[in-house]
Amino acid sequence: MQNIVVLSGAGISAESGISTFRDSNGLWENHPIEKVATPSAWEENKKLVLQFYNQRRKQLFEVEPNSGHQALVALEEHFNVHIITQNVDDLHERAGSSNILHLHGELKKARSTVDSRLIYEMDSWELNLGDTCEKGSQLRPHIVWFGEDVPNISPAIELVKQADVMIVVGTSLNVYPAAGLINETKHGTPLYLVDPAEVGSFHLTNIIHIQKGAGEGLNELVKQLMFNSSK
Ligand code: APR
Repeated sequence: MQNIVVLSGAGISAESGISTFRDSNGLWENHPIEKVATPSAWEENKKLVLQFYNQRRKQLFEVEPNSGHQALVALEEHFNVHIITQNVDDLHERAGSSNILHLHGELKKARSTVDSRLIYEMDSWELNLGDTCEKGSQLRPHIVWFGEDVPNISPAIELVKQADVMIVVGTSLNVYPAAGLINETKHGTPLYLVDPAEVGSFHLTNIIHIQKGAGEGLNELVKQLMFNSSK
């Protein structure tokens, strides 16, 4: 079976009703990113950071995977599929994809601030000041903030190196190291880009841009890949 590696971003969840991160004035749900998604924001105002992620988590409990997520599940019938996602939502999981690597953390998990190995599944949307890990330290969102290391980048690079086909969907490719993953493919690996906008500046030549929304674009692409594989 051929290996397909997918790099997904906020655009795939946009059609489920989750806002993408970057609008033209650099705000994230009306907050400057540095006020809610950096270690210094956490030091300055834990309550604001917790509230920001609580609102996003609450929204996540109210939305559902869309046909873009589902198209990637269907792809598993013919291919060995690995999804590397920058998204912190769990919509790939809920759609039913089997292999998902989260680069930027997971909204439905909380983590100890003294021992990063202590990670907890959350069954409600609220994380508050005073919620502590078993060692008594404040819990924080299990999110990779700007300026923090991305522990899953190494396994992601290994996956991309094994790809026979790469699909990039719904990401502006603005944030590194995630954006650099597209440069890790083997020479000649076809790269399909599904995004309604022009994205990034590619130096690669073997890119096929499907300039459509994730639902429509992925369904078309998956059909085509499955058809080609059964020939
Ligand atoms: N279908 C597919 N793509 C879409 C759709 C759609 N319906 N709507 C918008 N897009 C595209 C946009 O054109 C844009 O290229 O989704 C992309 C969203 O880009 P960003 O908002 O920058 O999101 P992303 O690339 O995932 O951000 C990367 O930055 O904010 C941090 O950690 C956060 O994981 C996030 C990372």
